[in-house]
Amino acid sequence: MKKLGILISGSGTNLQSIIDNIHSGYIKNGEIAIVISNNPEAYGLTRAQKHNIPNIVINHKDFQNREDFEQKIIDELEKFNVDYVILAGFMRVLTKKFISYFHNRILNIHPALLPCFPGTDGQKQAFDYGVKFSGCTVHFVDEGTDTGPIIIQAVVPVLQNDNVETLKKRILAQEHTIFPYAIKLLLEDKLRIVGRKVEIINEQTENLKDIFLINPFSIT
Ligand code: GRF
Repeated sequence: MKKLGILISGSGTNLQSIIDNIHSGYIKNGEIAIVISNNPEAYGLTRAQKHNIPNIVINHKDFQNREDFEQKIIDELEKFNVDYVILAGFMRVLTKKFISYFHNRILNIHPALLPCFPGTDGQKQAFDYGVKFSGCTVHFVDEGTDTGPIIIQAVVPVLQNDNVETLKKRILAQEHTIFPYAIKLLLEDKLRIVGRKVEIINEQTENLKDIFLINPFSIT
């Protein structure tokens, strides 16, 4: 049974989708060993408590520097023998030291179609740019900001009457699907990193070669 350490900062709806998919048996071979939040107010902590999952606050404001803050996180993850680190809405940038400590063992969800719109507010960046499609990306974490090898992406249309909030909601619904899927594949040892690319091995996939999307789409 592989152990997950989940880092959060906020509402924790992605954490909830992981919890639910473990409970349903969709994600096999894994359990959440510890939830860590840098934000003491994060509702995700309450979600963890409701499911009796160990949870702690490591507030970055209590530390002199980033290294000490991250060392404390590493210590806690080690205490719980964590195999994989899942960044589920964790709003702090991690240093090279942390990332190399968990080399190719950290997954992140980003609310845009990388490599477009990395960093904070991916949904607003995409909305303000005027793209017709956006979405979300699950990727391995490397030393750059949202630059690691991509595992799965989901695409959603941006509609004419959207605002940032309606777009966020549409993207979030897809996050709740692709993040558990990526974690499932990870725990089933079906992900292989080859250079910049992630191959999905021993997994039945549909033949989608003729699929395309156009937005706006007119049927007249
Ligand atoms: C999500 O949109 C995620 O992509 C981003 O932060 C948000 C976290 O949402 N990194 P939640 O805390 O999982 O509800």
